[in-house]
Amino acid sequence: MNTYVVVGTQWGDEGKGKIIDVLAPKADYIVRFQGGNNAGHTVVVNDEKFILQLLPSGIINSKGKCIIGPGVVVDIEVLLKEINELEKRGKNLDNLFIDERAHLIMPYHIEIDKAREEARGENKIGTTQRGIGPCYIDKIARNGIRTGDLLEMDRFKDKLEWNIKDKNDMLQRYGKETFELEALYEKYVDLAQKIKHRIIDAVSEVNEAVDNNKTVLFEGAQALMLDIDYGTYPYVTSSSPTAGGAAVGAGVSPRKIERVLGVMKAYTTRVGEGPFPTEEDNETGEILRKTGGEYGSNTGRPRRCGWLDLVIGKYGVMINGLTDIVLTKLDVLDGFDKVKIAVAYEIDGKRYVNYPPNLRKSKEIKVIYEEFDGWKEDISKIKNYDELPENCKKYIKFIEEFLGCPVSMVSVGPERTQNIYLK
Ligand code: GTP
Repeated sequence: MNTYVVVGTQWGDEGKGKIIDVLAPKADYIVRFQGGNNAGHTVVVNDEKFILQLLPSGIINSKGKCIIGPGVVVDIEVLLKEINELEKRGKNLDNLFIDERAHLIMPYHIEIDKAREEARGENKIGTTQRGIGPCYIDKIARNGIRTGDLLEMDRFKDKLEWNIKDKNDMLQRYGKETFELEALYEKYVDLAQKIKHRIIDAVSEVNEAVDNNKTVLFEGAQALMLDIDYGTYPYVTSSSPTAGGAAVGAGVSPRKIERVLGVMKAYTTRVGEGPFPTEEDNETGEILRKTGGEYGSNTGRPRRCGWLDLVIGKYGVMINGLTDIVLTKLDVLDGFDKVKIAVAYEIDGKRYVNYPPNLRKSKEIKVIYEEFDGWKEDISKIKNYDELPENCKKYIKFIEEFLGCPVSMVSVGPERTQNIYLK
């Protein structure tokens, strides 16, 4: 089998986009399995920057088929815009398909998302307000409209009619504007024409590819600590960005997944609300933010920054069954006198080496760190492990030994060539 899952091991923005882009040329299929246009993968090719929200990151560098899988939620307008922009930049996207089962993010989902966040006030989740959560709610409530419904517009209209009544009631309660059936239906008749040639039953095809020993890459968005079950609930996303989520969201058996690559940034960042034990809300955090360019790729929001947390790292190895760690942005740590790694928490005098399920406020947690001497050299041009500064190697070795999982690749810059292969 040649099947790889790529998942984020922290709170997202680990650089999964670049890693998938690096792996893409080998892949016959690249399948995104969860999330929606709340992702913001950045791929840099010869100084040209691509930011992909809904399209699999592999699309830039792959001759294989790129699939938006059943577990993804799709805003067709955003998708068409993204396709258009890439085509304008000379990309051929004839290899892009969407599974019929993927649910549609409808305009009312976006308005409900905004209204709910507004109503939550200080307790807001910090969603991207792009309708992802409300779309997943409808999927689970069995109200959802699926991509395949765009192939049968009568059925689409029946579902839309019911949903419009339901959502207009909701929007009225929040004091928001409502939707009109005919106008929305007409809009989707038009959108369906533009997208229907890409809507297929991808699950059978992907399984057949796996069975025939093709290389299939399952691409995760967001990350473990944003997982609906295992993340810092309720400050999480509405899907399962874990290796298990790949099986569910792509429609393949867990037995068919061979390698699970956990992308781990050499330090930690998070966007939005919620606990973040190793946060450095100070000058160190500011240096990491500036050097690492830690500002949202879609929103420009500054990301919260702090040291690497291996309590979370261990949790990621366990939940995902990682076979490899891909350590990214190690170059951002160049120049520090000392660098730190969290190895345990202390809460109310009790020591935790395993991630506790109900972490509340970060300030109630005392973090136990291992401290290392830093390195002053610029590592961004290094291609061989042996050439790395000794202190940098010690940092990598500690991660491997502590987690009991090999670091098979280190990324030392945003370009697809800035990598060091260890295994
Ligand atoms: P989400 O799915 O939204 O979580 O995104 P992501 O994991 O794909 O990460 P994203 O692309 O948003 O953020 C990573 C940023 O770091 C991008 O700007 C990349 O170009 C950049 N980047 C990736 N790897 C490296 C690296 O090794 N070093 C440096 N300096 N930058 C990197």
